[in-house]
Amino acid sequence: MTNPSKAFPRSQYCGELRPGHAGQQVQLCGWVQRSRNLGGLIFVWLRDKTGLVQLVFDETICGKELFALGESLRGEYVLSAEGRVSLRAPEAVNAKIETGEIEVFVQKAALLNSSQTPPIYIDEDHPDENEALRLKYRYLELRKPSMQAMLRLRSKLTQTLRSYMDGQNFIEVETPILTKSTPEGARDYLVPSRVHPGEFYALPQSPQIYKQLLMLGGCDRYFQLARCFRDEDSRADRQPEFTQCDLEMSFVEPADVQAVVEGAFQAVFAAVKGAEIQLPLPRMTWRQAMDEYGSDKPDRRFGLKLKNLSDWAKDCGFSVFEGAPQVRGLNAKGCAGRLSRKEIDALGEFVKGFKAKGLAWMSLGADGVRSPFLKFLSEEKAAELKGLMDAEEGDVLFFVADRQSVVLQSLGQLRLELGRRLQLIDQGKDDLFWVTEFPLLEWSEEDQRFMAMHHPFTSPMDEDLPLVGSNPGGVRAKAYDLVLNGLEMGSGSIRIHKPEVQEEMFRLIGLPHDLAWERFGFLLEAFRYGVPPHGGFAFGIDRLMMALTRANSLRDVLAFPKASNGACLMMDTPSSVQEEQLSALHIAILQAQPGEADL
Ligand code: AMO
Ligand code: AMP
Repeated sequence: MTNPSKAFPRSQYCGELRPGHAGQQVQLCGWVQRSRNLGGLIFVWLRDKTGLVQLVFDETICGKELFALGESLRGEYVLSAEGRVSLRAPEAVNAKIETGEIEVFVQKAALLNSSQTPPIYIDEDHPDENEALRLKYRYLELRKPSMQAMLRLRSKLTQTLRSYMDGQNFIEVETPILTKSTPEGARDYLVPSRVHPGEFYALPQSPQIYKQLLMLGGCDRYFQLARCFRDEDSRADRQPEFTQCDLEMSFVEPADVQAVVEGAFQAVFAAVKGAEIQLPLPRMTWRQAMDEYGSDKPDRRFGLKLKNLSDWAKDCGFSVFEGAPQVRGLNAKGCAGRLSRKEIDALGEFVKGFKAKGLAWMSLGADGVRSPFLKFLSEEKAAELKGLMDAEEGDVLFFVADRQSVVLQSLGQLRLELGRRLQLIDQGKDDLFWVTEFPLLEWSEEDQRFMAMHHPFTSPMDEDLPLVGSNPGGVRAKAYDLVLNGLEMGSGSIRIHKPEVQEEMFRLIGLPHDLAWERFGFLLEAFRYGVPPHGGFAFGIDRLMMALTRANSLRDVLAFPKASNGACLMMDTPSSVQEEQLSALHIAILQAQPGEADL
C-alpha cells in the first residue's frame, strides 16, 4: 500500500514486511514503540496500524546527524523513515513479532512529532491495566494492534452486512435520531427543544416505528445499521448507545425473515471468521428453552439440563418439596469430587440472589450418598429420584422448589454458574440457534398488569387468538430471538397489521385508548390506510462483535465506549452546560440531591 503523499511517503505498512522484501528500499511512517541504544547501533521499534518493525540506526550507514536523531527518539514519537530491508542473522530473529525475521537499516528519517510519556502501556502485555485510565486515554489504547484488529474486523462485518443486504434487495434508509419515544421498554434519552419551550424529542431506542411506517410507505425491504439509545444501567453486554442491524420486510411470515437473518450470519461468519454455518439454523421453542435451561437465551455449549420433578415431589416425604408449586433439579455430572461442602453451601447463597428460598442437594460420592433431605425419602422414592435425574456415582444433584418463575431463574443461573466455575463450556464451539414462540405477554408483579414481552406491535400466533380473551398469559407470539453462545443476538417478530388487533393489544397491556392514541396515534392513524402484513428483526452489531471476538464486554468492541456508569471518561461526559444554553432551552436545574442518581 503506497502513500501518494510527497511530504510523508510510505511504500509499505510496518507490519507487512517479510523476508521477501529483503534488499528493497522502503518508506515507513509510524510511532516509536521503544528504542534501545547499544552504542553505535540504535534499535527502534516502529508501529503503525498493522504492527511493528525494527529500524536500525547504524552510525556507519546513516551518518552522524541521523544517528543523533535516532538517539533523541522516545516512546510515541512520530517518525517517517526510509531504509533498506535486511534479513536478520538467525540468532537475532524475534519470533514474537511477525516481522521478526527482518529489520530496516535507516538511511533517511524525519521526526514529525514528539510525545509526552504516555500514561498507559501501548502494548498487549498489560491487559489488567486500570480500565478507567485506559478509557480516559482511549485514543492511545486504540494504537494497540489488538484494538486496530478489532476495528478492522468491525468494519469488515458492517461492509459484509451492507453488501449482503443489498444482494437481498434491501435498501438502507436512515431514520431520524431526533424523534419520539419508542416502545422498547427502557428509559429514553430526552433532547430539549429550543423552539418548542418545554417540549422534548427522544433519541430512538430503535427505529421500530419508522421501519413499520416504511413498510406502509411501500419500501418492502428496509435495513439500516442503526444507532440506538437506551438509558439503562450499563452491563458487560449493554451500552447506553449501540448499533443494530435493523430490518423489516413486507408480505412475510417468520420463516421469511429468519431466512434473511440466517443468511446474514452465514455471510458474516464466512467473511470475518472463515467459518461455515450450516443452514437452516436449529430452532427451539421458548417453552423448551425455559424448561430445559431455565433461560430464554440458553448457553447450550454444555449440558446440565433442568429436570421437572413436580410429579415425583407430590408425595416424596420432604415437606419443602411437597408443598411447593414446582420442583426442578439439575445434575452436575461427575462433579462430586470437584465441589466441596463449603462450595455447595456458597451455591445455596448464590440461588438466594434469585429469590430461591434454599438449594437442596444430593452428592453421590464414592463413600456414599450425602444429602440434607435424604432422611425424609423412602428407599423407593430415593431410587425413583436417581432414575429421574439420571444420577450415578460421582454426580451432585441440585434442587429448587418454588413458584415456576423462581425455580427456572434460580436453577438457570445456577447452571451457568456451574458451567463457568467448573469450566464446562466448550469455548471453541459456536452455537447459533432460534428461540421461537415467545409468549405475547408477561405478567408484571410490580405493576400488577400484563406487559408486552417483545413490544406492543408483536402479532399473536393465529392458533392462539381464541385465548386472547380467556387466557392472555397463554398466548404465544410470532416472535423469535437469535441466540449465540448464550447471548441474545437479536429479536424480531411479525407485527400486528390489523388496527382492531392493535387496539386490543393496547387494551391487554393496560394502555387506555386515549393514551395509546396520544403516544402512537400517528401509527394507529397510518394503520387505517392499508398496512401490508410485515415483520422484521434487529440484531446487535456490538453483541455480535463481542461473541465473534470472545470479548468479555462490549467496551472491548467499540471505538469509544462508555464506562459502566454510562460516562465517557475521555471527554468527561455527561457534563454541565453554560447557564445561557440552559435558559435558551427554557431549562432550570433543580439542585440534585446527594445520592439521587442512585435511586
Ligand atoms: P431488542 O430490544 O430486542 O429489539 O433489541 C435487538 C438487539 O439489539 C441489541 N441490544 C443492545 N446491544 C447493546 N446494548 C444495549 N443496551 C442493547 N439493547 C439491545 C441486542 C438485542 O438483541 N425493535 C426491536 C427489533 C424488532 O422487533 O425488529 C428491538 O429493538 O443484540
Ligand atoms: P430446611 O428444612 O429449611 O432446613 O431445609 C433443608 C434443605 O432444603 C436445605 O439444604 C435447604 O437449603 C433446602 N431448601 C429449603 N427450602 C428450599 C427450597 N424452596 N427449594 C430447594 N431447597 C430448599
